[in-house]
Amino acid sequence: MSMIAIIGGTGVYDPSIFTSVQDKSLKTPYGDIHYTEGTYRDKTIIFLARHGKGHSIPPHLINYRANIWGLKKLGVTFIISTTAVGSLTEEFKPGDFVLTDQFLDFTKSRITTFYDGNERGVAHLDVTNPYCPELREIIMKEGLALGLQMHNGGTYVCTEGPRFETPAEIKMFSLLGGDTVGMTNVPEVNLANEAEIAYATISMITNYAAGISKTVLTHHEVLEMMDASAENLKKLIMQVIDQLDPNVVYDCHHRMSEYGGFKL
Ligand code: HPA
Repeated sequence: MSMIAIIGGTGVYDPSIFTSVQDKSLKTPYGDIHYTEGTYRDKTIIFLARHGKGHSIPPHLINYRANIWGLKKLGVTFIISTTAVGSLTEEFKPGDFVLTDQFLDFTKSRITTFYDGNERGVAHLDVTNPYCPELREIIMKEGLALGLQMHNGGTYVCTEGPRFETPAEIKMFSLLGGDTVGMTNVPEVNLANEAEIAYATISMITNYAAGISKTVLTHHEVLEMMDASAENLKKLIMQVIDQLDPNVVYDCHHRMSEYGGFKL
């Protein structure tokens, strides 16, 4: 059965929008994953809290491969992820939603691929369009219909974390073309693409980045803003689930065709 998954980022831990909710686990070759299965209007939805229960896993220690492999094994064909981000531009204000369409990768210590030269061999993923254009279009349409402050496209700078950035780093990211900054979207998006799961992320602006913000940053501030946006985000996700047919096949479901497709 084809399914939709939500990967909930910082501040998004609550699968209560679904009914028949069950906590479950799955063994993967990369370690166990813990997720929640629920139903929304006859669709089975998988909810995975990226940082674990109670925000216990920092960005650089998330088992990205286990999460994505597990979702693939469960039959997930679409991932709607949420990411809390800082803004590098006046145009993107706290409370706004950005449909990220590009990334700049500044991570340092993460395993970035399923194709590490072992049984799977070596593969070079095309990332011209890392975020599924068709899924982004659905999210954009539904967000606008709900009257949310949506931005269609933005470049997400992924840092290693878990610390926030220096103003000098933010200045550099901005000069390089970054619009938002977060700590988790890479390698998650790339692994989803290798696994041929259509993937998009709804980035929520929680703060102006370091040096742009007039005050120093706190995690509490990020959580507070996420709380304020939670209701809008919930509505948006519900609408997207409603409009999305998990059986539809787009080009992003065949990203590894050059390598014979992704096999579990
Ligand atoms: N920097 C990095 N990650 C973040 C930020 C930020 O300013 N805000 C939310 N996640």
